[in-house]
Amino acid sequence: MEEKKPERPELNAELRPQIPGYSPAMEELRREYAKVQGIYEAAIREINARLQTLDDDFSFRHRHNPIHHIESRVKSLDSIVKKLHDTGIPISIDNAKKNLHDIAGVRVVCRYVEDIYKIASLLLAQDDISLILEKNYIENPKPNGYRSLHIVVDVPVYISQGKLFIPVEIQIRTVAMDFWATLEHGIRYKTTDEVPQRIVDELRACADVITETDYKMQEIFRALQQVHDRDDLSAESIVEAQKGR
Ligand code: GTP
Ligand code: MG
Repeated sequence: MEEKKPERPELNAELRPQIPGYSPAMEELRREYAKVQGIYEAAIREINARLQTLDDDFSFRHRHNPIHHIESRVKSLDSIVKKLHDTGIPISIDNAKKNLHDIAGVRVVCRYVEDIYKIASLLLAQDDISLILEKNYIENPKPNGYRSLHIVVDVPVYISQGKLFIPVEIQIRTVAMDFWATLEHGIRYKTTDEVPQRIVDELRACADVITETDYKMQEIFRALQQVHDRDDLSAESIVEAQKGR
């Protein structure tokens, strides 16, 4: 997800070939990508709108917002080229469309672990959204301690020619999991060398402590909710009692 590098601004056509590192093939890819980028942006807007509606509805019904915040990005062309290259797939926008399911990426940061599953199941229950892939790194954390629920869904996008189904990778995690993943990502990408084993072990230990805290916070929240529910009941009974007077 951490690849919000802005695309290079358009260059004056005559100047382009004089620029060191100018590549006609890359320029062609850039033109091709520009044609489809809008569709992926539309798919992200669609997912974001649905998530926002679910969060609002949940807040109205349960006085709790499961979503803390949402981030999203369309994969940069540089990242697409690198990923196709790393996976040994010939570089073209067509191949990116066929083989990469994270061109459109949304990260949903929830408050509690329960919220992750609530949001995922409510979104997947929508009859025009279909699940393509699920990786549950909460139940099966990565060896380094990474935890998140990853789902890839197909979402309908309407263009003038009709309906297209566009894949969107959605990473759903708690604030605590996001805290760890963000810092770990920063540490890993700062160094070009292998991260020393001692650091790897410490990061893993931090992830475990964070997970324990995540579940404790969940328990505290549940306990407080029960207190609120009791208060609600007594408020209802006051109103009923007033009516009966
Ligand atoms: P990618 O080639 O990175 O897309 O991997 P993949 O296709 O095997 O998918 P996976 O579900 O494992 O990971 C996809 C994305 O999840 C990554 O691009 C990151 O944003 C995030 N992610 C996965 N593993 C880690 C990790 O160990 N640390 C952090 N910080 N993020 C991770
Ligand atoms: Mg990825």
